[in-house]
Amino acid sequence: MSLTRHESATTRLQRSELAVPGSNPALFRKALESEADYVFLDLEDAVAPTDKEQARKNVVAGLVEHDWRERGKTICVRINGIDTHYMYRDVVDVVEQAGHRLDVVLVPKVGVPADVYLVDALLTQIEAARRVPQRVGIEVLIETALGMANVEAIAQSSRRLEAMHFGVADFAASVRARTVSIGGLNPDYPGDQWHAALSRMVTASRAYGLRAIDGPYGDFKDPEGFLAAARRAAALGCEGKWAIHPSQIALANEVFTPPPAEVQRAKRILAALDDAAREGRGAAQLDGRMIDAASARMAQNIVQIAAAIEARRKPALAGRGA
Ligand code: GLV
Ligand code: MG
Repeated sequence: MSLTRHESATTRLQRSELAVPGSNPALFRKALESEADYVFLDLEDAVAPTDKEQARKNVVAGLVEHDWRERGKTICVRINGIDTHYMYRDVVDVVEQAGHRLDVVLVPKVGVPADVYLVDALLTQIEAARRVPQRVGIEVLIETALGMANVEAIAQSSRRLEAMHFGVADFAASVRARTVSIGGLNPDYPGDQWHAALSRMVTASRAYGLRAIDGPYGDFKDPEGFLAAARRAAALGCEGKWAIHPSQIALANEVFTPPPAEVQRAKRILAALDDAAREGRGAAQLDGRMIDAASARMAQNIVQIAAAIEARRKPALAGRGA
C-alpha cells in the first residue's frame, strides 16, 4: 500500500437517490416519506427556465419546512451549472436561507477543478457570514466529455467533495453516443457501452476517498432493465443509483444492500482470518477456498455497509414502536 492515503469522505448511505423537481413541491412530502436514502431537490434539468425562480423558492421552503435528516435522509440540492446565470443565486439563496438544513449541493456538468473551486468559495463565504453550523458538502456530476477527461483532477478539487455521480444522459449527449434510452444498453454494442466511462469515474472516486454513484435509468416501466443496470454499476464499485421515479427506490435499495448470506460470509471470513492470525498465519481456508488479507479488506467493506444500513433501519423501527 502506498504511504499516500486519501481519507474517505463523510460516510453517508446513498443506495437510492431520489430526484425530485424543485418546481413540483407537491412531491416533497412523498419524497420525505419514501424509503430513499438520499433525496435531491432539483433546480437544474428537471426544471423549465420559466420555473427556475419559483423552484428555488420552493426548494428553500422545502428545506425549512421538512426535517429530512430526522427521517434519516441525506438532503441535497442540485444547483444549475456554473455556465448559467441561475447558479450564483441558487447557491446564495438556498444556502443563506436554508444552509443549516442542507447536507450537500450537487454540481452538474463539472468540467474542470475550478468549477468546484467556485462553488467551494461561495459556500465558504456564506457559511461564515450566516454562521451555518455544519459544512455543506459538494458532490459533482461527471457527465461531459471534458469532465470525464479531467475526472482525476476533479476528484481532488475540494475538501468538501464527497461523491461523484455518472450522468449518463448528458454524457451520451456530450460524446455523441448513439443511445436508445437514458442509461439503457444499445443493442448495437456488444456489452455495456457505459462500462469504460463508469469504471474510470469509480476508480478516480475511490482513489481520492469519494463515493461513486450511478445516475439515471430513464425507462421507469422497465424494472428489469433498472435492476440489471444497477447490478452492473454495483459490480464496478458504485454504492448507489439514482431513482428518477419512486418505483425505482426499492430496486436500488435491493441491489445496493448486501444480501444476508453475503454479510454472514464476510463475517466468517473475518473470523477465520482472526483465528489464523492468532496462530501466526496470514492466509486461511474457508469453504474450500483460500482467503487472505485482501479477502479481509473486501469483507470489511461489506460488513461496514451492512452496519450503516442497520443503523438507518433502527431509528425507523423505533419510530414504529418496534
Ligand atoms: C443526469 O443529470 C444525466 O445527465 O444523466
Ligand atoms: Mg445531466
